[in-house]
Amino acid sequence: MPVFLTIETTCDETAAALVTDQLEVLASVVASQDKLHQQYGGVVPEIASRAHVERILPVIHETVQRAGISLADIDAVAVAYTPGLAGSLLVGVTAAKTLALALGKPLIGINHLQAHIYACRMAAGRDVFPCVGLVISGGHTCLYRCRDPLDFELLGTTIDDAAGEAFDKVAVMLGLPYPGGPSIQKAAEKGDPHKYAFPRALLDDPNTLDFSFSGLKTAVRYAITGPGRHDPSQVKLSDQEVADLAASFQEAVVDCLVGKSFRALEITGFHRLCVGGGVAANKRLRTRLEEEAARRNVDLVIAPLKLCTDNAVMGAIAVEKWKAGVFDDLYLDAEPGVVR
Ligand code: KG4
Ligand code: ZN
Repeated sequence: MPVFLTIETTCDETAAALVTDQLEVLASVVASQDKLHQQYGGVVPEIASRAHVERILPVIHETVQRAGISLADIDAVAVAYTPGLAGSLLVGVTAAKTLALALGKPLIGINHLQAHIYACRMAAGRDVFPCVGLVISGGHTCLYRCRDPLDFELLGTTIDDAAGEAFDKVAVMLGLPYPGGPSIQKAAEKGDPHKYAFPRALLDDPNTLDFSFSGLKTAVRYAITGPGRHDPSQVKLSDQEVADLAASFQEAVVDCLVGKSFRALEITGFHRLCVGGGVAANKRLRTRLEEEAARRNVDLVIAPLKLCTDNAVMGAIAVEKWKAGVFDDLYLDAEPGVVR
């Protein structure tokens, strides 16, 4: 049975997995860097790439050991080469190319965002195509028309901040710990989602499936500081104020994500929505998507927590490329900024 080594280093997780052509997961290892970036309130690219360099070989070694096979048993090497942080991507791409060359095995480049959607295929254990795909992470917010695993069409993306980035930055303003998404979710539990009327940019514009969260971020900032004050961290907020701000902010983001996703379903005529990326872990978002999907008879597939955040199991999308005979050569290069 052909075995694929998949490598993921697009941001701050160093990950590797071994999967078969039947999409069976033989082993999966994720080394998180959360602790290294915590004190900065966000991912520091230079720290991330150095940590990948230290971890990539031990992570691959451990993956192979856990599966009880040797590197020589691998039939292809796959790697996420786009999009992501340049230095982080380079570590994975270089490791993958080196292994492919040394082992004499084919190389397959993976689009990290499309892999986030494929996490839903892996979680569901059944075909999920065609579907609308929503990827919501710290770096990206993308809506896709996914006709099949090899045919993704970008329908909309953020024109400024990603949804996760907005969560992380608003958390800093509210004095909540990194990563911001889970902190805001927790604080929001005791808050009033309608206390502040924050903007839902582009939500009612029928001509676009794009997102924009930077105005929302600014609105939260001014709600904290009021006119004339400029450093939100200098403002002492009560626990209830933090909870209300968190809940109102979260509700605005969720409204935009839910609204545009179901609009994309109307436009495509598809009846299935697949959601991946770290922000898909958000409980309020999950509840709202579930309610709306039930109302509209949509098949909703949300990747479970450990497949939402960056991992290498979702790199099993490489199996689809392999089956279609789509390979890369050793000129494969990291493409940091290309969202497609
Ligand atoms: O997919 P991911 O692990 O890494 C990237 O590729 O960016 O996503 C990380 C993002 C962070 O911005 C984090 O704050 C957000 O996902 N996140 C959440 C939640 N858990 C993680 N956002 C909202 N609610 C959550 N529960
Ligand atoms: Zn990601």
